Amino acid sequence: MIPTIKWEGNYIYLIDQRRLPNRKEWFVCRSFQDVIAAIREMAIRGAPAIGVVAGMGLSIGAQSIETENYGVFRKRFLEMAEQMKSARPTAVNLKWAVERMIKIVEGMHGHQVEEIKETIRKESQMILERDIEINRKIGQCGLALIPDTATILTHCNAGALATGGYGTALGVIRAASEAGKDIHVFVDETRPLLQGMRLTAFELREDNIPATVIVDSAAGYLMRKKRIDLVITGADRIASNGDMANKIGSYQLAVLAKENKIPFYVAAPLSSFDLDLENGDLIPIEEREPEEILSFAGHLVGPESVNAYNPAFDITPAQYISALITEKGVLAPPYRSSIKDLLKDP
Ligand code: MRU
Repeated sequence: MIPTIKWEGNYIYLIDQRRLPNRKEWFVCRSFQDVIAAIREMAIRGAPAIGVVAGMGLSIGAQSIETENYGVFRKRFLEMAEQMKSARPTAVNLKWAVERMIKIVEGMHGHQVEEIKETIRKESQMILERDIEINRKIGQCGLALIPDTATILTHCNAGALATGGYGTALGVIRAASEAGKDIHVFVDETRPLLQGMRLTAFELREDNIPATVIVDSAAGYLMRKKRIDLVITGADRIASNGDMANKIGSYQLAVLAKENKIPFYVAAPLSSFDLDLENGDLIPIEEREPEEILSFAGHLVGPESVNAYNPAFDITPAQYISALITEKGVLAPPYRSSIKDLLKDP
């Protein structure tokens, strides 16, 4: 499996996902600002992966603060944390990781600044290692939902590249394949940035899991022809009622799945849940540049200066989600109570 993130010394190396699958280049982050740029420009993307990298970015940012005074360090660190949080708005994992780091700084008042920096470094390394373990657990939890022979539709990339490793939705698919199930994956190309065709199809091919790329608009046709047994996606944020934000196009897949009586599953770690939000309408949706729609592989193909609207995510209401697969088990509707029950156990 392709390593997405490497941390060597005070530099972070990210496989530049804008170039995959044709070029395998490292995007090197030498500073906290480089990490923000990598997230914003989507050299790294996928909710858990940007959480992991945000933690590491704050660690290299903390190292660069030259003071032994706690108050000065704290003030500068909190400024960095705010900037990091705003790098991309929808995936809550970014906010989750930043808040974990802030908690460390706030909780270590009275300690030497060097000691705080070291604790932040260890915590961000731990978030990476834990993320891989969590994804393997998600895979195992989701296994029972996958028939022994299954044709699965997925959207965007919720694989090793979108996480610390192994993946969430793709983690379930990988676990099913490793368990000997006969899996075929239909991969939505995922306009406009083609994470499905460029990244998911690439990961599946590397793992020798049979896969076929389709255009996003072919999903309904395939479902109606009974060529899809289930749909599984990742999530960028799940509200306390189970509504979830994921890559634009997920909502229409969920509606089509319900219409065609096909289960629609969402696989995500607990760090993707935002219990502060009552429902999905409160999730901030990132809107990206129109050029991403009007261009293809770096070339403008639309008419110059035509309008284009580019929301990067949409909200799938809980009523369309058949189950939420987490590292602590599979949640069934009604989600408001099943989420609450799951999170109250330590
Ligand atoms: O814009 P992206 O590529 O960051 O969007 C990614 C997705 O929508 C993924 O499905 C989601 O982050 C889950 S990744 C495990």
